[in-house]
Amino acid sequence: MDLKKYITIVPDWPKEGIIFKDITTLMDNGDAYRYATDQIVEYAKEKEIDLVVGPEARGFIIGCPVAYALGVGFAPVRKEGKLPRETIKVQYGLEYGSDVLTIHKDAIKPGQRVLITDDLLATGGTIEATIQLVEELGGVVAGIAFLIELEELNGKDKLKGYDVLTLMTF
Ligand code: PRP
Ligand code: MG
Repeated sequence: MDLKKYITIVPDWPKEGIIFKDITTLMDNGDAYRYATDQIVEYAKEKEIDLVVGPEARGFIIGCPVAYALGVGFAPVRKEGKLPRETIKVQYGLEYGSDVLTIHKDAIKPGQRVLITDDLLATGGTIEATIQLVEELGGVVAGIAFLIELEELNGKDKLKGYDVLTLMTF
């Protein structure tokens, strides 16, 4: 299946000059969403994954059906102030300024093999922060899966040494 057909290109959103890749037209097509999920599940199957971890919000959309199919749990990485119990946090860079991502301290047991998921690899800041949280808790990043990689932003440079799957490149 050609998944790119299901991504809608939206010029000048959220601001002029940005060419937004809208995944909602992939998600709302049952065949395409299932196919994309199955591709990631196939990739993850041999990796003895104990847990899937994804950053809010779009990382949940990708990671939760994969966790269900693998028969493992899902641990959310969230913006500061959203998780109710003890967390660890990491600051990460955005185009303008910075933000904070958090995870529950007991979400990962040391040595657990983790699959990280998100919809899109752009600069890599979000996923780098997510990796940091997983590793600080003693998790082993056994794989990282994205629907889309924006090649010109060189996010892959931040993921050297990790096993990475991207289903589409733009
Ligand atoms: C988008 C996207 C990735 C991230 C990629 O998330 O879903 O998580 O940006 O960019 P990066 O590689 O430069 O970090 P966003 O922060 O817009 O939030 P959302 O998932 O809640 O929509
Ligand atoms: Mg996101």
